[in-house]
Amino acid sequence: MVKVDVKGCRSFIDGKKYEQYVGKALDAFDVLEAESGAGNDFLGWKHLPSTTPESLIADSEAIRDEWASKGVDLVITIGIGGSYLGAKCAVEALSHNFSKQLREKSAAEIVFAGNNLSEDYIAELMDLAGERNVACIVISKSGTTTEPAVAFRIVKKYIEERYGKAEAASRIVAITDEHKGALKTLSTQEGYRTFIVPDNVGGRFSVLTPVGILPIVVGGFDVRGILAGALEAEKALAVKSSENPAVVYAAMRNLLYSEYGKKVEILVNYNPKFTYLAEWWKQLYGESEGKDGLGIFPASVNNTADLHSMGQFIQEGDRIMFETVINVEKATRSVSIATDPQNLDQLNYLAGKSVEHCNHMARLGTVLAHMDGGVPEIEISVEKVDAFNLGSLFYFFEFACGVSAYTLGVNPFNQPGVEAYKKNMFALLEKPGYEEATAAIKKRF
Ligand code: PA5
Repeated sequence: MVKVDVKGCRSFIDGKKYEQYVGKALDAFDVLEAESGAGNDFLGWKHLPSTTPESLIADSEAIRDEWASKGVDLVITIGIGGSYLGAKCAVEALSHNFSKQLREKSAAEIVFAGNNLSEDYIAELMDLAGERNVACIVISKSGTTTEPAVAFRIVKKYIEERYGKAEAASRIVAITDEHKGALKTLSTQEGYRTFIVPDNVGGRFSVLTPVGILPIVVGGFDVRGILAGALEAEKALAVKSSENPAVVYAAMRNLLYSEYGKKVEILVNYNPKFTYLAEWWKQLYGESEGKDGLGIFPASVNNTADLHSMGQFIQEGDRIMFETVINVEKATRSVSIATDPQNLDQLNYLAGKSVEHCNHMARLGTVLAHMDGGVPEIEISVEKVDAFNLGSLFYFFEFACGVSAYTLGVNPFNQPGVEAYKKNMFALLEKPGYEEATAAIKKRF
């Protein structure tokens, strides 16, 4: 289970104030558990691991096996924000670091599209598609988001031209709203198999719905392990206690933000496989908390690489941040450092030590240096990088996000601010219905 340790914050805070914030976080916990807070019609994610139907896994496996029998080796997964980051995080965390170069995958390769509007990206994706046997999962809860809609229009046309319309219908699966939206209508018309994004689960909380589960299964990853880890977290975090890791995390980050001016939280990771865990976390916390003029700005660094770039700022720059460090306790592989008779690099003092030992010492040394530089440190530990621990982290961060946002006093489950750029983009693209906005925005240039 995920462990949270806040002793690296103690020297920065008043212990009595911490107890007050634990009280606030426990009140927020009650609101979340009673489902009585703002946005409470979006709490379906809370019971997802315990209520995930076996049929969802079986249906996902059936699609995986059917596509495998056709020789599909590339699945273009289209979606943006919550409709892609969870699956991307799982694929990155659970793949061999060099799986592409090793080419040893037994399942189809999952690649992502519809998360940007780069013409070069989509053109180069089509270059790859031309070399491979292709299927597509298109994900949009609303069914109207521009970026995935643009990508899907291009990929759909490509698949239809290459395989014919009837075969295309078996190579495209949609994940969308049960009743409404353009993707739902299109899927019905074209005869695509569809999976449902539950009404009561927002995009960024949807990794344990078909949105995450189908691509994870089709990519050959251990979805049962993820669900088992999430289930353990669901049970553990349901216990009301001042020691509950979600309460501790929510209390400390709100205290640092509200009382000590720590406006930025940096999620620090020491394992390249968790790079996208940070991207998923940034969306979850940024979109859930950043509203009403409030919220901690979620940032991330990947160490030790970023110690040689962002490390300078974190050590000596403006003291606006605290760090939340992911501590992976054990490596899953073992590589030790050899003795070198010449010792020109003067590393013989490390001979016989594991690389992971050096990674741990780098982490501990950095935590102390940053504390000395005025940066409070929260530690989140998991045993290793595997499906079970990833599932625990998914559920932990979701639950803690609900507790934390209610502690802050905002509705975690809406995202009104995301509309502003869309209105301007539609006006600039001269979308029908936006004529007035188009005329107004053009005057600004
Ligand atoms: O968390 C959210 O709700 C958003 O990030 C959405 O997931 C994102 O905007 C994609 O929306 P949709 O799935 O409707 O295309």
